[in-house]
Amino acid sequence: MSFDYTPFFRQDLPPAANAFGGFPQFNFIGGHNDANSVPVQELVEAISTAMTKDGRHLATYGMNSGAQGYLPLRTYIAQMLENRAGLATDPAQILITTGSLQGLDLVNNALLSLGDTVIVEDISYSGALSRLRSRGVDCKAVELDRDGMCMNSLASVLQELADKGVTPKFIYTIPTVQNPSGTVLSLERRQKMLALARQYGVPIFEDDCYADLLWEGTRPAAIRSLDDNGQVIYCGTFSKSIAPALRIGYVVAHWPVISRLLPLKTDGGCGALEQMALAEFCPSQFDSHVDNLRQVLKVKCETMVTALEEQFGASAEYTAPKGGIFIWITLPDQVDTDKLSQIAGTQGVAINPGSEWSAHPDSGRHRMRLCFGNASQQTIRGGVAKLAEICHSEFGVPPRGANVER
Ligand SMILES: Cc1ncc(COP(=O)(O)O)c(C=O)c1O
Repeated sequence: MSFDYTPFFRQDLPPAANAFGGFPQFNFIGGHNDANSVPVQELVEAISTAMTKDGRHLATYGMNSGAQGYLPLRTYIAQMLENRAGLATDPAQILITTGSLQGLDLVNNALLSLGDTVIVEDISYSGALSRLRSRGVDCKAVELDRDGMCMNSLASVLQELADKGVTPKFIYTIPTVQNPSGTVLSLERRQKMLALARQYGVPIFEDDCYADLLWEGTRPAAIRSLDDNGQVIYCGTFSKSIAPALRIGYVVAHWPVISRLLPLKTDGGCGALEQMALAEFCPSQFDSHVDNLRQVLKVKCETMVTALEEQFGASAEYTAPKGGIFIWITLPDQVDTDKLSQIAGTQGVAINPGSEWSAHPDSGRHRMRLCFGNASQQTIRGGVAKLAEICHSEFGVPPRGANVER
């Protein structure tokens, strides 16, 4: 028997974690990436070159670049954002973080107190929603349509709050390949969002996690690129474009914000090797790497769409995403995806129930998110078939007729 810590733990800790027992056979959760697309050999060479050049900087915290992160990487990110997102910035406005999740934590930590209000898309990244909830923040949901956040809805939410004398701390948005809807906010809506944010004096927190993975249409300019007075805080990541296990993300903001985030980042700096590897790899290879990755993901997405058509027929409603690694699906009302995910989980199929991705959990009860980035095409086909079988036997959905034409 080991020592009993129970009486010593804080009363308000989250529930205990389960030990990792391996991934399920059909894993459609977790935002993982395509394993064969990780540029392993190129990263090996990049680390070796970078270590030979700058390895002695490992002797100091911050690698002679200060607490904001390895300067050659920040320099690359600044150029990359200008080229790819039309976002003119410079390394002094960039803070390297342990994934963009640390960026979310830092911004939340700097801006939010218990009882504050934040505006979110009515379906949104569960990691962001759960973080806001755990801080006791009131999330006001704005409607989404096929083109992302609806500006009429945003205008009414802002006005209702203003009528009550409430200034939200920020508008949290994922404008490009929104998680989970996959929508892309048009330039006109971006301009309108900024105009509304200015009118009501509210910051915008722009999470551009998936913007590099857009395979249809052109990437609209980042909202921060349309803003010259520092009202928009921007965050990005290499998790989706290269590999999540590298744990390298970044926040872009004006110095008055960066200077308040820095004292909250108390980890002594992000890992050196991953920053050095990216700084060496990216300038010559990021663009071509991402072009290839997008093609791979597009094919997987098509496989998922075909499997859904074959297995769920008209029972599954969705808009095929224009990029990214997931698809958001609406099932008939009688399907409870909380229950479906529990049952499917025991049979080796992992799915994200919609309630966890909805500002109003009840509205997501018959929706689900399926990730296709990591699964092979064979796994996608097999897993969707198994999910349809389980869903049919639990909820009668899809009806047998839609399920047999394979
Ligand atoms: C919208 C969004 N933001 C942030 C993250 C966090 O990513 P990371 O910490 O790996 O950069 C994710 C991960 O899935 C995400 O979907």
